[in-house]
Amino acid sequence: MMRIKILLLILFLTPISISSQQIISSNNEIDEINKMRWFEEAKLGIFIHWGIYSVNGISESWSFFNGYISHSDYMKQLDGFNAKKYDPKEWSSLIEESGAKYTVITTKHHDGFALWDSKYGNLNSFESSKSKKDLLTPFVKEIRNKGLKLGLYYSLPDWSYKDYTNHTNKIKRYRIKENPNRWQSFLNYRDNQLNELKNRYKPDLWWFDGDWEHNAIDWKSRELKTELQKDFPNVIFNSRLNQFGDYETPEIGIPVYRPSSKYWELCMTINDSWGYQQNDNNYKTPMQIIDLFVDTISKGGNLLLNISPKSDGSIPEKQKLILKELGKWNKKHSSAIYSTKKGIAYDHFYGPSTLSKDKKTLFLFVRDIPKDNQIVLKGISNKINRAYIVGNGTVLNQQLLCKVYWNKYPGITYIEIPKKTLDPYYTVIAIVLDSPIKLFNKNTGAIELN
Ligand code: GLC
Repeated sequence: MMRIKILLLILFLTPISISSQQIISSNNEIDEINKMRWFEEAKLGIFIHWGIYSVNGISESWSFFNGYISHSDYMKQLDGFNAKKYDPKEWSSLIEESGAKYTVITTKHHDGFALWDSKYGNLNSFESSKSKKDLLTPFVKEIRNKGLKLGLYYSLPDWSYKDYTNHTNKIKRYRIKENPNRWQSFLNYRDNQLNELKNRYKPDLWWFDGDWEHNAIDWKSRELKTELQKDFPNVIFNSRLNQFGDYETPEIGIPVYRPSSKYWELCMTINDSWGYQQNDNNYKTPMQIIDLFVDTISKGGNLLLNISPKSDGSIPEKQKLILKELGKWNKKHSSAIYSTKKGIAYDHFYGPSTLSKDKKTLFLFVRDIPKDNQIVLKGISNKINRAYIVGNGTVLNQQLLCKVYWNKYPGITYIEIPKKTLDPYYTVIAIVLDSPIKLFNKNTGAIELN
């Protein structure tokens, strides 16, 4: 009897627990979609690597970690880091002009040098470098004035801090297992700094780095995330908090195939370095930056493009020019960029594309000069109401080939693009459809009717 009762109880409870589980997970999904919305729509962010490494123009933090310079010589750069031409208003205007909707700034890189007047530790731009200033607060103020979203980069490793495990690739101070108290004292310092950043600047996004040095348990990643979410449930985390992030961060290597993850952001150098290096002149051209940007958004990602201010706070002219050129192109083509979704497969169009939110407009990005002034679109089952050049308005002629009445194959559309409408970078074509896009993906058979 007892058994039957238990069985009945299980039968009675099971569907309820499954459906409540489903409700919870669908609620979580809705929360996630809402939280990630601004990020998904933003498409472009500007990354800023600014630190004492810009004085000698050597690689950020890694130069002493890998033994190219001693730690004490590396730290001599503190005397040259003067920030005397630092103009955060100009920085924020440039970021806005580039068309970026958010920025991520290195508040502290692996070398442990902080850009704000932290109460915790004394390696920072207020106490220990020539600048003698909190450099972060005025930047945040200008970014907020522009209505841009704010991301704070924070390195989990701090190779200069006395209680951090690693000093260089050869010098390890201690092992966590053997000295958990010392590790805890490092975590306290880290948590104090992060709470300070959280309460002062209320970032929209945390961009962690360096999680590879320890596992999530040692970093206390889960606890850290919970703490930073307190009062700020909508704050976004990049993936470098071990497995606790909201989105993936491929670095420099642009994904060849569309990543399977829903949210991702490609972080990219403007030349070959993150920090300012006067010897690095291997700048990408505006065309190449736009190539990367278009490729990224057509695959549903964001581009986080890095700039590297000099030690006096000025932004190298070359970098300014690239951002302005990118900004001009973004402005002209904004409808094809912001808030769009990833595009269609290359089987339908030989090039990158995006889709409007309602999927009723398809944007085709044309890099080269089209042969015979035409581009080709295949297997779109919708009626095309109109095709026009984005940012220019010219309505384009279309020709439909291979459309027969006896099957549903939608045919091949040739779209004519007059030479004079071509953009110096990418020309963008809007294809306005009668309803959300329907891609034809069946094989066609023999003619059975004629
Ligand atoms: C890397 C490097 C670092 C750079 C960062 C940017 O993880 O350690 O120097 O700041 O990526 O994505």
